[in-house]
Amino acid sequence: MPAVMRVLVVGGTEFVSLHLVRALLGRGHEVAVLNRGRRGERLPAGVRTLVADRKDHAALRAALAGETFDGVVDVTYAPTLGEDVVALLDALQGQPHVLFVSTARVYDHALPIPYSEATPRGLYWGEYARHKIAGEDALLERHRQEGLPVTIVRPTHVLGPLNTRHNETFFMDRIHRGRPVLVPGHGGWLRQFGHVGDLADALAAMLGDARTHGQAYNVMGEETVTQVGFVEAIAEVMGRPVTFRHFDPALLQDWDRPGPVFGQNLVYNCHAVHTTHKLRLDLGIRPRYTLRSGLAQTWDWYRAAGLVEREVDFAFEDRLLATLGA
Ligand SMILES: NC(=O)c1ccc[n+]([C@@H]2O[C@H](COP(=O)([O-])OP(=O)(O)OC[C@H]3O[C@@H](n4cnc5c(N)ncnc54)[C@H](OP(=O)(O)O)[C@@H]3O)[C@@H](O)[C@H]2O)c1
Repeated sequence: MPAVMRVLVVGGTEFVSLHLVRALLGRGHEVAVLNRGRRGERLPAGVRTLVADRKDHAALRAALAGETFDGVVDVTYAPTLGEDVVALLDALQGQPHVLFVSTARVYDHALPIPYSEATPRGLYWGEYARHKIAGEDALLERHRQEGLPVTIVRPTHVLGPLNTRHNETFFMDRIHRGRPVLVPGHGGWLRQFGHVGDLADALAAMLGDARTHGQAYNVMGEETVTQVGFVEAIAEVMGRPVTFRHFDPALLQDWDRPGPVFGQNLVYNCHAVHTTHKLRLDLGIRPRYTLRSGLAQTWDWYRAAGLVEREVDFAFEDRLLATLGA
């Protein structure tokens, strides 16, 4: 692979894929992105945009016609089916190194933790897992049949500036206003997070590395924390106290449309703990951020972006708190 690669990022203007664009530019690569062109103003100078809806396969083919890349990173979940990944692979010219951002939710979470790359995959996480497994398999088949260099990356909860999942900012919104944090159940299920900058750096480092061909890697931070411990870590970096109000999650069944009560997707009844030794031992990749330093960096961004002032609708939580009584 050339030192300066021509890289295509599918996505490019939000969270993971935008951080990836910045990491690639930081390494001196030439970057193009493929998306529907909704947030072009976010892109750094010098990045070329190919406009297409990846789920429109004819438009995808047209956008990629005559384009050649050394590396391609398929980030966007659109929701992306196996056939959409196949269409992308079909539309690419030559033999670029293709990285697929999958998810640690491909692992069967009914199995004991921790989950390594050798843990059987399964449909514990339903359609999301099915689509990601189909995407992974599409790449692995091209690798086996045609020798296409491919790599699969499996993050778990990602945190950091511009997060589309609003997990950590959900709690910042409440803690800085002195509001209680509602906890459905005991809040003791183990979670693991990774900073988006570390994920972007890992993806950029893997591109063009022949050791990663045909391999899958867990990419996330090395610490685990309970659900409640995660919120306590956020309060600690904010330098503010936090109060918890536990309640029986069965209560939520009585509401028509219950709002998110504990981050956007942190409420589920199983542990999510993964090993990262393959990434460390095989590639020497380690995160720059600890959980706390990653949260502190995100809190700095939250304040700098003026999110402290934003309007948040607490109506659902207020009704729930009123139901729970004093
Ligand atoms: N966030 C997490 O905690 C987490 C955990 C595990 C795995 N993941 C995986 O990480 C990946 C990144 O997620 P993300 O939230 O950062 O979003 P993202 O990949 O950055 O997606 C948004 C980008 O994709 C583009 N896009 C969306 N729909 C498109 C379509 N139909 N065709 C072409 N482009 C499209 C958007 O631009 P336009 O709107 O202009 O098209 C935008 O540039 C996903 O695959 C997700 O499954 C995330």
